[in-house]
Amino acid sequence: MRALTLPQYGDPDQLTVAEVPRPAPGPGQILVRTAATAVNPVDLLVRSGALADSLAHPFPLILGWDLSGTVDAVGEGTDRFSPGDRIVAMSAQYATGVGTHAEYVALDAALAAPAPTTVDLVHAAALPLAGLTAYQALERAALRAGETLLVSGAVGAVGGFAIQLAVSRGTRVIALARPEDAELARELGAESVISSAGPVPSGIADVLLETAGIAPRVIGAVRDGGRAVSIYAPEPPKEERGITVSQTFVEQDGDQLAILSGLVDEGVLTLRVAAVGDFAEGPEAHRRLAAGGTRGKLLLTP
Ligand SMILES: NC(=O)c1ccc[n+]([C@@H]2O[C@H](COP(=O)([O-])OP(=O)(O)OC[C@H]3O[C@@H](n4cnc5c(N)ncnc54)[C@H](OP(=O)(O)O)[C@@H]3O)[C@@H](O)[C@H]2O)c1
Repeated sequence: MRALTLPQYGDPDQLTVAEVPRPAPGPGQILVRTAATAVNPVDLLVRSGALADSLAHPFPLILGWDLSGTVDAVGEGTDRFSPGDRIVAMSAQYATGVGTHAEYVALDAALAAPAPTTVDLVHAAALPLAGLTAYQALERAALRAGETLLVSGAVGAVGGFAIQLAVSRGTRVIALARPEDAELARELGAESVISSAGPVPSGIADVLLETAGIAPRVIGAVRDGGRAVSIYAPEPPKEERGITVSQTFVEQDGDQLAILSGLVDEGVLTLRVAAVGDFAEGPEAHRRLAAGGTRGKLLLTP
């Protein structure tokens, strides 16, 4: 089968399309014929070797966490899905070594969910990692209706889903975004937009969701005793003024993904896709994501 492989750490041009053995589904697993996969910031970190100290999988690596596709075969004892089912899934590539930039992917059926029925199966690959990250971060924040949420990186993949999820729960959202992204942030549901480049007013939010690595500049916007949840590992917010600070790291979860898939079909979540290319365009997708300014996912197809 075709896969986008990484023979060694390095720049984006290390990514190479190659023939590799097709996996077989083990007990409890499904074998998925890939419709599309997406490139996420973590793929850039793995590819460059920035996470090499804690990554224990042999080369060549196959990167990729997001997956949409069709169930091709099921392993022993798997009754959650049948061949032909359209699914989405997230594979925690960094922890498990199972990457999704491959023509076929075998993974536990419990990690997959029915794909949204109202969008193209290729575009459905925009949902899993960013959607689950936003969902789990808002769960950690214990966001309640009527509260005010401040989202940094508001028009990013995670930030955009977080705005839409929060608004659907009756939360007022203030977006922190670059001035040129203000209109998009409003379209996503933000009630107001503050420039992420300038000073941020004090005490305007109950909760901060930090996705852009700008916590020191924006933590002042959280009221005394509020909450801050960060998904940005290098620079999480520091505790101050009784603010509860936590970090979340996305976990695979087919049940939560099924909820998100349903929210796409209900029109609550919008899948934003910036470009679809084939595996050979992997290096360009890595360069584009690193450059910033993408306002939707970069998808790759086999
Ligand atoms: N903890 C976890 O489990 C987890 C899960 C998913 C993602 N992450 C991390 O969370 C971050 C966001 O992920 P994502 O997929 O949403 O990325 P993304 O789609 O690239 O979105 C990031 C957003 O933040 C903005 N941004 C970045 N640096 C900024 C700065 N200095 N000032 C203002 N805005 C800035 C970006 O704007 P520009 O494009 O204009 O720069 C973009 O809108 C990444 O660092 C990723 O590694 C963590």
